[in-house]
Amino acid sequence: MKVLSYGSLNIDNVYTVDHFVRSGETMSSLKMEVFSGGKGLNQSIALAKSGVSVWHAGAVGKKDGDFLLEQLEEVGVHTELISKLPVKTGHAIIQRDREGQNCILLFGGANQQVTREQADHVMEQFSEGDFLILQNEISEIGYIMQKAHEKKMKIVLNPSPMDEKIFTYPLDYVDYFILNEIEARDLCGHDGTGDELLELLAEKFPMAKIVLTLGEEGSIYKDQENAIRQPIFKVDVVDTTAAGDTFTGFFIGGLVLGETPRMAMENAAKASAIAVTRPGAAPSIPYRKELSEESSVSVK
Ligand code: RIB
Repeated sequence: MKVLSYGSLNIDNVYTVDHFVRSGETMSSLKMEVFSGGKGLNQSIALAKSGVSVWHAGAVGKKDGDFLLEQLEEVGVHTELISKLPVKTGHAIIQRDREGQNCILLFGGANQQVTREQADHVMEQFSEGDFLILQNEISEIGYIMQKAHEKKMKIVLNPSPMDEKIFTYPLDYVDYFILNEIEARDLCGHDGTGDELLELLAEKFPMAKIVLTLGEEGSIYKDQENAIRQPIFKVDVVDTTAAGDTFTGFFIGGLVLGETPRMAMENAAKASAIAVTRPGAAPSIPYRKELSEESSVSVK
């Protein structure tokens, strides 16, 4: 079984700030750092660090994207399906406040230049039973899902960042949704508690397995037979960027390695707790062996 992560690659420009800049305000930042990021890249790195073999597909700029490929290769991610295009690499402008919370502004760049031709070439390398992991930061996602469905691949969708394009995708083909409360509300078109949202999602997508993350309230996994609740691990927060991506990578990585959904949920929660104790997106993601070494995290 192969794992394809088809998604964004960003250069994250991270500004440490006292508070998020307000409308009309000009403000000096306290520090500026550059990290590798992009939900796709972060999830590929989390999958690789969780112990599975991953192929990343997507696009970077010819002139400024090499360091992202190097970061993927350093942890063993296959990068031959990433195109180098004569455009700018995608980037993010991230404000990180004193509490470690963030707000993110994206420029799609090469991520929005993924074409059907590229997708055809990429999808030729995969077959029935292989996993496809997607977020919502590249072009042609609906087409990629269609191709993966024809091949009987297992489709994982993290509908983040949520926008109106999501509703144009063939969502009935999704095998696993991994999403937060806000994304769940938008997808259902209803407000409600975590449990209510989960029920609505299960009604709307009866064939899908759903992982709903609820911030401080932990996360819930639901399939046709089980519902599993996973509390968060309590840590001192430094930077929440890529916490969700780490969760997704370790949850799917765990399933690929044969873990039960319960074990995969616990390890995913622990890995993302460790990630928020460190600065940056991809560099904050732990290796699987750190999950048993880390003594500073405990279940809340
Ligand atoms: O999920 C965090 C990521 O979102 C950042 O790395 C940023 O690049 C955006 O894609």
